[in-house]
Amino acid sequence: MFKETQSDQSGDSTAFVIFGVTGDLTRRKLMPAIYELAATNRLPVNFQLVGFARRDWTDEILVQNMTEGVEKFSRRQPVDTEVIKNTLSSATYIMSDFNDPEGYNRLARLFDTRKICNVMYYLATPPDNYEEIIRHIGSSSLKDHYCGWTRIVIEKPYGRDIHSATELDGVVHSVFKENQVFRIDHYLGKETVQNILVFRFANGIFEPLWNNHYVDHVQITVSETNGVGTRAGYYETSGVIRDIFQNHLLQLLSLTAMEAPVAFNDKSVRDEKVKILRSLRPWKASDALANTYRAQYASGMIDGQRVPGYKDEPGVAPASITETYMAARLFVDNWRWAGVPFYVRSGKRMPAFLTEIAIQFKQVPLPLFNWQNMAGDAPNVLVLNLQPNEGITLTFGAKLPGQINQIAPAKMEFNYQQAFGGNPPEAYVRLLQDAMSGDATLFTRSDEVHAAWEFTSSILDAWKGSQVKNLPVYEAGTWGPPGADDFIGAGGRHWREPA
Ligand code: BG6
Repeated sequence: MFKETQSDQSGDSTAFVIFGVTGDLTRRKLMPAIYELAATNRLPVNFQLVGFARRDWTDEILVQNMTEGVEKFSRRQPVDTEVIKNTLSSATYIMSDFNDPEGYNRLARLFDTRKICNVMYYLATPPDNYEEIIRHIGSSSLKDHYCGWTRIVIEKPYGRDIHSATELDGVVHSVFKENQVFRIDHYLGKETVQNILVFRFANGIFEPLWNNHYVDHVQITVSETNGVGTRAGYYETSGVIRDIFQNHLLQLLSLTAMEAPVAFNDKSVRDEKVKILRSLRPWKASDALANTYRAQYASGMIDGQRVPGYKDEPGVAPASITETYMAARLFVDNWRWAGVPFYVRSGKRMPAFLTEIAIQFKQVPLPLFNWQNMAGDAPNVLVLNLQPNEGITLTFGAKLPGQINQIAPAKMEFNYQQAFGGNPPEAYVRLLQDAMSGDATLFTRSDEVHAAWEFTSSILDAWKGSQVKNLPVYEAGTWGPPGADDFIGAGGRHWREPA
């Protein structure tokens, strides 16, 4: 995971084919990442962008849109127009339906005339199109044109339950070998997420405490101030469970809980992560209902502005029971974590945009100080702040000066920006570079996705079976309804109120 990856500099031409190139993802994320790789000489030497989509665009319109995307969304400002021009000098647009064989034949002819050797396919379309695109890639004459490597990058969501994910995997594997498949979870490309393993396994001091002897519980929070915006069409069929829990949250949990891999390579790291997913305590429907909590945002204030409730967002059904907040209490049933609850939560329209992992350590075995006098309990909590204030904080109890045995929380803090300067690079830069150099460590493997869906599907089935007509609501800009506090409070614990 941490070895420097090199781009292919062999001189062979590499086509980067984006299906669904006209969508937002390409403009906002993929193109700025490609530009960043170009500006830092990390693209393969003969790199050629090919856009494939239904919209009535031309090569010129493609270049214009991609250029605008870089200008607007690149973190490297001001942008170097020469670099953009060179990167897009041979950019080609193929206008086609995804189920029209002729589009794929045109792509094959393009590979032929351009003497393309390596091919990176990127699925940035709505997921409903994935299977037909993959089938066409497999059945068309495209396969006769590869002379170097061929890979496919697939965006989330990868299926919508265990059945559809298994079916999609079947189609994927009928055309590609597993080592050609790069399933994206962009959280794994975040610098701070990669740092979880560095922090745990490059340092000797925390790992001995990282287990059920010393850890009381773990809290993982992924909170957003954004609402559903213009994505109701997708979100209504997804909810936070499919959008965040099945992927980002379970990935963060796996990295937090996994054993040290035997080496930092794709096989070893993913072997350990998948063991954690398989160790999640399986739930019957009644367990799933007792150990999860869901809710939906109502109108409220975000940054001083009134925002609409979920049901008033454009495209949301008036009787929608799609959850925009979810909390779960999970148990990793292995020797290291037996009995330690992992509380995870994620919501839209929360008071803060933040992702953090908090390791709450147990209290001392026998209190020596007069607890009546203490300002709160001595809170040994280690927080990995993954975003936006990237850093790590360790809180401990310190004696308040002059007071008789009064203890106050004090902090040791590490801040990425202060320590290293600058902003961490965009996740997609690292992910695209790794995919082009064939390193799959930061991508999810078939068995991993399967295990994550297997667990998630048990919750989905229980929710479906419970036939609720309405969900509890929380005012936008709050940390969820009171039920969210009761949910964690049942264990005598409380949600952290991040600073
Ligand atoms: C995406 C979800 O995967 O992650 C979005 O589909 C969510 O709904 C986003 O907003 C959050 O990503 P980040 O990088 O902003 O934390």
